[in-house]
Amino acid sequence: MIPEAHGPHDSDSAFELTLPDEEATARLGAALAGSLAPGLLIFLEGDLGAGKTSLTRAALRALNFHGSVKSPTYTLIEPYTVSRLDLYHFDFYRFTDPDEYLEAGLDEYFGGPGICIVEWPDKAAPHLPAPDLRILLRIDGAGRRAQVIGQGARGLECANKIREIA
Ligand SMILES: Nc1ncnc2c1ncn2[C@@H]1O[C@H](COP(=O)(O)OP(=O)(O)OP(=O)(O)O)[C@@H](O)[C@H]1O
Ligand SMILES: [Mg+2]
Repeated sequence: MIPEAHGPHDSDSAFELTLPDEEATARLGAALAGSLAPGLLIFLEGDLGAGKTSLTRAALRALNFHGSVKSPTYTLIEPYTVSRLDLYHFDFYRFTDPDEYLEAGLDEYFGGPGICIVEWPDKAAPHLPAPDLRILLRIDGAGRRAQVIGQGARGLECANKIREIA
């Protein structure tokens, strides 16, 4: 691929996918799994029931994790070790104040070698580093649509890989 010479988005990559059914979400999850690298920060954005946890579960399944994948709604974090990667799944929906993120001591997970996948990142917004990848999910009739946005060099690489696989 030849990058555009002086475009304003040289370090960004964005594309949209239609996910007509849960199987399509699972395929995107598998593509996400295939694009993971240590230290990536991934935001999953979208309304209740948009498919953020389903997508994460599908990614973990694709990484050969066969145990139960629960929503971290109450625990805030669910940790996994898969394919020699530490993966942390967060859900900040229940925060009423972003400072609860600091009080919970969760900042120690960010900026390290672990992969962080965050549902409801806006609930901790001022404290979180900029993500490499954002996946925006929205309900579209009986199905879903996903917008995949890679930011910065690592995010760009990750988004491009997802686009290739998905
Ligand atoms: N592409 C799709 N088309 C239709 N239904 C889907 C699709 N993908 C997932 N679903 C269904 O939508 C629901 C998504 O629930 P899920 O818990 O993953 O949402 P969520 O975004 O994590 O919500 P919350 O914000 O409450 O954590 C599940 O019932 C799942 O079966
Ligand atoms: Mg969820």
